[in-house]
Amino acid sequence: MNSLQKRILIDGKVLPGNILKVDSFLNHQLDIHLLKEMGKDFYDLFRDKEINKILTIEASGIAIACYAAEFFNVPVVFAKKGQHKNVGTDVYTAEVFSFTKGSTYEVTVSKLFLHPEDKILIIDDFLANGQAVLGLQQIIKEAGAELCGAGIAIEKAFQPGEKLLLDAGIDVRALAVIESMDGCKVVFRD
Ligand code: G4P
Repeated sequence: MNSLQKRILIDGKVLPGNILKVDSFLNHQLDIHLLKEMGKDFYDLFRDKEINKILTIEASGIAIACYAAEFFNVPVVFAKKGQHKNVGTDVYTAEVFSFTKGSTYEVTVSKLFLHPEDKILIIDDFLANGQAVLGLQQIIKEAGAELCGAGIAIEKAFQPGEKLLLDAGIDVRALAVIESMDGCKVVFRD
């Protein structure tokens, strides 16, 4: 069991609706020592892919992506949500439907920061329905860059995201794959 999995069992809280609360260490208060270990774990998973850029999505993906980027020694670009006056007009955009929120939002990346020669690793905190990663994949395609994989901190394997991403040809790997949270008991895939 890796450090993230152990921490989920100790400090994660299962809420009604199959929501796992991890805000004491991953997406509100941040445990920097855990993040560093996770960054190394992502590096070990994707080190052979010649990644030269990490792409994530605001807000909760950013800290995780930064720690991974330190091991890959590459820059991080984060997609912005919603309409942003300060991104400029020369942007790649994709529409993302959030099942959790029941609404669609736009993600935007400036064309200045993605290029055809880029070999990109997507990093995000949760994989649930997969729509956020699919939106980022669309942006990477528009830029003519190569998507080398998606590194996810916590995947909820009982939701459709993993299959959608695999069907889209994405090499998706998660540090903690949750098979079920029935009765508030978190069960990981081996
Ligand atoms: P997707 O991200 O896989 O497309 O699935 P979905 O649309 O259902 O997720 C919407 C938001 O809810 C995402 O964050 C996602 O990280 C978060 N989420 C999904 N399942 C869980 C869960 O079990 N626990 C927690 N804590 N979050 C979950 P977001 O709206 O993009 O938020 P943020 O990155 O701005 O924090």
